[in-house]
Amino acid sequence: MSAKPSQTQRIGVLSTGMYVPPKVLTNKDLERMVDTSDDWITSRTGIKERHIAEPGTATSDLALPAAEEALKRAGIAPKDLDLLITATTTPDMLFPSVSCLVQQKLGATSAACFDISAACSGSIYAIITAQQFLQGGRYRNALVVGAEVLSSFVDWTDRTTCVLFGDGAGACVLGPVSRGGIIGTDMGSDGTQSGLLFMPGGGSKYPPSYQSVDQRLHYLQMSGSDLFKVAVRRMADSAKRVIEQAGLKVDDVKLVIPHQANIRIVEAVAKFADLPMEKVFVNLDKYGNTSAASNLIALHEAAQTGAIKPGDRVVLVAFGAGLTWGSVLLEWS
Ligand code: UT7
Repeated sequence: MSAKPSQTQRIGVLSTGMYVPPKVLTNKDLERMVDTSDDWITSRTGIKERHIAEPGTATSDLALPAAEEALKRAGIAPKDLDLLITATTTPDMLFPSVSCLVQQKLGATSAACFDISAACSGSIYAIITAQQFLQGGRYRNALVVGAEVLSSFVDWTDRTTCVLFGDGAGACVLGPVSRGGIIGTDMGSDGTQSGLLFMPGGGSKYPPSYQSVDQRLHYLQMSGSDLFKVAVRRMADSAKRVIEQAGLKVDDVKLVIPHQANIRIVEAVAKFADLPMEKVFVNLDKYGNTSAASNLIALHEAAQTGAIKPGDRVVLVAFGAGLTWGSVLLEWS
């Protein structure tokens, strides 16, 4: 479903933040862990290294510094925050939400808090959700966080998945803007393909048991090459749709910030969407696939490195388990 925001109140990104844990795991390190090579990982994925949290680190621990940075840059005190939405696939625990745990750590006592479960598309879904609350006018500002400790859910003996993922958090503050802001959104899902990427264990279907641990059900499972094809088509279609429905052309867009899953996916999306690679932001070589944190980490780096400037039109586009996909078109303000 695509939607143009109402003309009543424009909502934009006021600031961004990010945090990754200090420990870096390189492809060379992985060569010592599974039957793989730097050459295979680099040529098939573009990933060179990823950040990995120390054991015992929770998703809310990574979310907190990213959230603090975004709030500080927006000049909003935690107690003045109205809404906190965290997108994550790897919550600290099944409940309470990561957002409530971050609220407590931040001291954001006035905020309403909940999480969004849309896997790698989570930060796009969360931005669109926050936009809806803010346009209603009852909430003045919202903090959106995408945070993951995927290293706790990756099977470190499975070379087909463990080389892909990394840990980290990105954040942004949304609020009313006088010009620019979010000018188009697009979201979609296809539950018939939920079996392409999932983690079976730990929920109500397969609660933790000796058997579930023996069967390795508490690790993510992925049909990589099937997912690859759908990811390309869904992200290219979504990015094109959000641009067209805003009455714009690809030439009107300064930068596309795709979910950082695999450089070959990113390049194929660019090709199908008629985008030159100079207009596509890539940082997956440093972080790997950080799922719901990916677009927000990339947005923060794009903003901090001057890749986007006020007035530039930017498309965030993502794809993930569910399956889910979505885009946000914004004019940087
Ligand atoms: O964030 C959500 C979205 N994520 C995605 O959409 C991920 C999408 N999928 C992908 O990025 C790619 O499919 C992968 C990177 C996961 C895999 O790349 P591929 O080009 O599709 O490789 P493949 O799965 O077809 O495997 C090719 C070969 C296989 O060997 P054989 O059967 O040809 O002998 C694999 O066993 O590469 C082998 N292989 C590896 N070799 C060395 C798989 N993983 C590795 C590895 N190191 N880490």
